Amino acid sequence: MSKNKKNLTLEEASLQKIISHAKEYGFVFPSSDIYDGLQAVYDYGQNGVELKNNLKEAWWKAMTMLHDNVVGIDAAIFMHPTVWKASGHVDSFNDPMVDNKDSKKRYRVDHLFEAKAAAYSEEGKEDEAQALIARMNQLLTDENLEGLRQLLIEEGIVCPIAKTNNWTEVRQFNLMFATQIGSVAEESNTVYLRPETAQGIFTNFQNVQQTSRQKVPFGIAQIGKAFRNEIVARQFIFRMREFEQMEMQFFVRPGTQKEWFEYWKEKRYQFLLALGLPKEKLRFHEHEKPAHYADAAFDIEYDFPFGFRELEGIHSRTDFDLKQHQAYVKKNLNYFDQEVEEKDKQRYLPYVVETSIGADRLFLAILSNAYTEDYGVDAKGNEKVRTYLKIHPAIAPVKVAVLPLLRKQNLPTKAKEVFEMLRYDMATIYEERGAIGKNYTRMDMIGVPFCITVDHQTLEDETVTLRHRDTTTQERVAITDLHNKLSEAVSMKRIFEKLI
Ligand code: GAP
Repeated sequence: MSKNKKNLTLEEASLQKIISHAKEYGFVFPSSDIYDGLQAVYDYGQNGVELKNNLKEAWWKAMTMLHDNVVGIDAAIFMHPTVWKASGHVDSFNDPMVDNKDSKKRYRVDHLFEAKAAAYSEEGKEDEAQALIARMNQLLTDENLEGLRQLLIEEGIVCPIAKTNNWTEVRQFNLMFATQIGSVAEESNTVYLRPETAQGIFTNFQNVQQTSRQKVPFGIAQIGKAFRNEIVARQFIFRMREFEQMEMQFFVRPGTQKEWFEYWKEKRYQFLLALGLPKEKLRFHEHEKPAHYADAAFDIEYDFPFGFRELEGIHSRTDFDLKQHQAYVKKNLNYFDQEVEEKDKQRYLPYVVETSIGADRLFLAILSNAYTEDYGVDAKGNEKVRTYLKIHPAIAPVKVAVLPLLRKQNLPTKAKEVFEMLRYDMATIYEERGAIGKNYTRMDMIGVPFCITVDHQTLEDETVTLRHRDTTTQERVAITDLHNKLSEAVSMKRIFEKLI
């Protein structure tokens, strides 16, 4: 990796730019910022919340509005504690951790091996890289994790800070946050902050099926917060302790899961393209060893400023979860399939194909893809750079800015009329302070796709200047045409028509 002047890698430098931009323009702030923040917890600012809400709306509608057989729910964050025993999270939702005794820093063991494997790959030693990951995967399944510590030492893996291999033993660390419900701090009152939203869907499978009259195959979608005590939390909002998931479980007849898996893989990929993420920054990654509950798993990876990483998971979860819950609650959760003949199996636990994407990771992908620096020369021949966010108009936090050219000669009054005409149907802001050039720059920074300037000509012929963010081109448009033209351009229909 090449280093620039400030000793940042190029990847770090571009992530740093995104983080600074996100803070300066009201997208993302560190949580409790005036207290110097809380590690791996972030707040969304005035523009961030709009962008995130738009992403959630696009996902929600793409799932429920575009699929007659997908309905939504909103389950509580707290669930009966036995849910997490049944799902396997109490016993196996762990990360293997190791501490360096000299620096007192704690690391995820798999991350240390992955960094070493990446270094092998960079040196062209692909076989060594693959062998190391295979060996790590095998040792991770051992009850005794001493083998992992030995492998760290054999591979000469040192703490990046202390530069020593003075490692403690490797321990499993459960990622769930526990808290107490009620006033008596007894173990029976322990509840968890959900580490995934999926279990709220599984436990409501029967409720939804019986009250919605949906028949298998059908899906349940949900957006909500999830919590994980991530020990190594870096890379901005990529890995957080409190984050939001957008998950959909699709319940199918056993034996048909493969075709539904392919169906949803393709649908999810198309959704990401429709939001404006480019093909070359997306790729599928097949899990060689799917999680304990899955018979197939693919990630859709995105090329973040720090490289390709998981953006979304698509898992074929078999009947693992429903079977587990059925066993724990000792109630029959079978589905009665009237569509098949009696001789075929009519009662069964459906299999599940899951799609799961983090709203925050999608936000980071969209923001880092949108961040654009165009280099050019000004009239005097000096190099200049124009920075803007090239966000799909339908998801941009603000769609239109109305700007009077001057704060006098009735221009603000006319501009406010235009603002009033648009504000109820699309996110519109009005700005009369500052010079027009500066205002354009500011609107570019938050990704406003259209600026409307009201000038002297407007007072004469009822036309305005419409400036397009990506090209900076300007056209004259009649005020009477503005509403139609803009609502068409910023409509989410632009995204959805690519999905049907
Ligand atoms: N129900 C399946 C499940 O939770 P996962 O791969 O652990 O699977 C799904 O998580 C998605 O949730 C990931 O692809 C990622 O987008 C998001 N995600 C997971 N952990 C996250 C974290 N700590 N911070 C932000 N997003 C996270």
